[in-house]
Amino acid sequence: MFSLSVPVVSRVFRSSRPDRFAGRLPMLCLPMLCVVALCLAPVTGCARSAASPVAATPAAALPADSGVLLAVFGTSEPEALAAYEAIAASYAKLGVPVVWAYTSDIIRAKLAKAGKRPATPAEALDQLAAKGVRNVRVQSLHMAAGEEFSQMELGVYAAVLRQPDRFDSVRMGRPLLESEQDMNEVVAAVLRDFPRDRRPGDGIVLMGHGHADGRADLPMFAVRDAFQRADPLVFLATVEGSLDFERALAALRARGVRRVWLAPFMVVAGDHARNDLSGPEEDSWASRLREAGMETTTHLKGLGETAGVRDVFVRHTLEAKQDLLRVKGVD
Ligand code: CO
Repeated sequence: MFSLSVPVVSRVFRSSRPDRFAGRLPMLCLPMLCVVALCLAPVTGCARSAASPVAATPAAALPADSGVLLAVFGTSEPEALAAYEAIAASYAKLGVPVVWAYTSDIIRAKLAKAGKRPATPAEALDQLAAKGVRNVRVQSLHMAAGEEFSQMELGVYAAVLRQPDRFDSVRMGRPLLESEQDMNEVVAAVLRDFPRDRRPGDGIVLMGHGHADGRADLPMFAVRDAFQRADPLVFLATVEGSLDFERALAALRARGVRRVWLAPFMVVAGDHARNDLSGPEEDSWASRLREAGMETTTHLKGLGETAGVRDVFVRHTLEAKQDLLRVKGVD
């Protein structure tokens, strides 16, 4: 803001009274800038909370000597990496070192067979320390604070406690879906990004993951209802959780929907999206919709490929408060 204000202020002075004010310009500028700053403060304050914090202040958003650890479940599907690449590009705008860690042992074991070795969260912390980072932001790229998020958080906490002097702070960013704001922004972003060639009357079925025991399914219920409020032909169900696909299928039938778009409601369009959602097996959701007489179209894009969803993750990184080096109740 200041860099913009200086030329504007000097231009005003020069054009009105060039000679008289020329020598006193620096002296006059300072109080003038204060006035400008005070006048604009409420305006920019509002604009910043409404827009993405990243778009507003990319480089100055995190203090110097900060670094980001992006903790993801991981994927073994090369096509799914597009989502991670898009997320990496968003985080590059913060202008600090960014490292990645895969939290899934199964995925890491699969990738090891192909000679790939993504870092564990503990190894990713080592990488940040080697880069001279003192203030870490760990950002979960999980959908909700379920089992995978808890394991990651505990793993990072254990690694931090093993060498507590390496960093000045290690803040934990929350997963995607926690607050009403998160829900509203994600729902709006997904609907905004949906292909324009969806015709009126076409349904959308989104596949979320969920948990077999229903853990962390509640945010999914809220998001399902938010999609329904925004567009009654959009249905969210989960492949492993308690949001039943049968219910979505019955609702589509009852509404006489003829064509259905299928898309993952997961950060990457990985194995579930390519097999359980849209695969040729007869129990895939696509097969079951076709069995019910509906035409299906797939939209295999992970949520990481949607800019508005990435903005929520980045906001969570910038807002992260919980410092693992200062956990209350632990001495
Ligand atoms: Co799964």
